[in-house]
Amino acid sequence: MNLAVLGAQWGDEGKGKIVDLLTPRFDIVARYQGGHNAGHTVFVNGTKFVLRLIPSGMLHPGITCVIGNGVVVDPEALFAEVDELSRNGIDVGDRLVVSDKAHLILPYHRDLDLLAEARRGERKIGTTSRGIGPAYEDKIARRGIRVGDLADPDALEQNVRDNVLARNRLVHDSTMDWKPVFDQLLAHAARLQPWVRDISLMLNDAMSDGRCILFEGAQGTLLDIDHGTYPYVTSSNASIGGVCTGLGIGPRAIGGVLGVAKAYTTRVGEGPLPTELVGEMGNRLRDSGNEYGAVTGRPRRCGWYDAVAVRYGVRINGLDALALTKLDVLDGLDRIDVCTSYRCGSRRLTEFPSDVGQLSSCEPIYESLPGWSTPTRGIRRFSELPENARRYIARLEEISGVPAAIVSTGSEREHTIVRDDQRFQIPDRRVPA
Ligand code: GDP
Ligand code: IMO
Ligand code: MG
Repeated sequence: MNLAVLGAQWGDEGKGKIVDLLTPRFDIVARYQGGHNAGHTVFVNGTKFVLRLIPSGMLHPGITCVIGNGVVVDPEALFAEVDELSRNGIDVGDRLVVSDKAHLILPYHRDLDLLAEARRGERKIGTTSRGIGPAYEDKIARRGIRVGDLADPDALEQNVRDNVLARNRLVHDSTMDWKPVFDQLLAHAARLQPWVRDISLMLNDAMSDGRCILFEGAQGTLLDIDHGTYPYVTSSNASIGGVCTGLGIGPRAIGGVLGVAKAYTTRVGEGPLPTELVGEMGNRLRDSGNEYGAVTGRPRRCGWYDAVAVRYGVRINGLDALALTKLDVLDGLDRIDVCTSYRCGSRRLTEFPSDVGQLSSCEPIYESLPGWSTPTRGIRRFSELPENARRYIARLEEISGVPAAIVSTGSEREHTIVRDDQRFQIPDRRVPA
């Protein structure tokens, strides 16, 4: 059975750690959207890896990693990542597969990202300035350049000319020359070419041969272009729908959906965050959780667990279960608040509002739970958790509406409780169904 692992909050939930942990249960790990705006951290025996474009399964030998058509690929970022992995003893070799239909991020997309942010002024989104939005804009405008286009230099030349011209029209006084862009793309083509495939065909053939796939999401449900807190979102479908469109597989191929959620909430960039804590407690969560962006180093905004937001993630993605991460960050707190609903004017809301303006005016309604003083860090058995930690998890399960099939108690692979006794069984190719 195949499994989708995706973010149930605003990104950085710990997807990289969970994907790396579950990878031995699968044959293939496939990214379906986003680009190198993602930063998926994996710790293996004290060594830190940050995966950006390459799926987080790459650290396991023998696993094939797929970059789907729904991903936007910056070739330079991809090569830098391959080289960095190689310096750390991970040989990508022929285990990487890149869709011929994936769109390319070109150097001017990065400039356009910065320019758009500057033009937005006060209403900026706080993007990662990786050119993600402008590359998806070109895709939707049907002028994008795809990985497969690199195989036809004549058509590519015309396409690059047209695109650079279109870009020059957008940027005041710009006379960017198309030729260096074209030459650089030709140079990249040679290195990319051995990885390029029709990944829809490859994945469907693999499934017919009985192989199992883990679909890895980037960003999170509330950053989804359709279902997130628009316009403070990324430009792709981070939620479950992105799996089918971003890989060319049918919905029945998705056997289960695991939502990764922190035991509290963070967000990086602008936009509403109802449970945000700006004072001492916010700093406490940021410090103990080391909440600084894996890609940009920006401090993340921190707040209590927002069950309204996670319940929305359960609905949008049809989540079967949660992987609840960073429980250990809450160690030592006297009381822990959990947001169960919002107050919006005179109304009490139990459902996440569609409108970002309404969300901005919502106040969280909290339930306060007792904390625990004995550390949970590194605990691997549920029964060994302090009683109040178990109660906290049970309450989160109740108000979020799904079981916590995984509880993460530290950043290392081993710092994890996998609850195979739960209502939701995480698939494992090594264990016949
Ligand atoms: P992703 O983008 O969803 O993969 O998450 P990031 O890698 O951006 O951020 C998650 C951070 O939390 C990383 O630094 C992880 O190493 C770390 N992390 C993951 N799980 C745990 C956990 O259970 N406890 C602690 N303390 N850190 C964790
Ligand atoms: P992972 O996969 C957290 C946020 C940015 C910004 C908004 C739009 O590591 O969870 P973009 O550059 O995508 O146009 O920025 O989305 N953002 C993320 N926040 N984790 C991420 O990825 C993110 N990728 C983008 O901060 O608010
Ligand atoms: Mg991240």
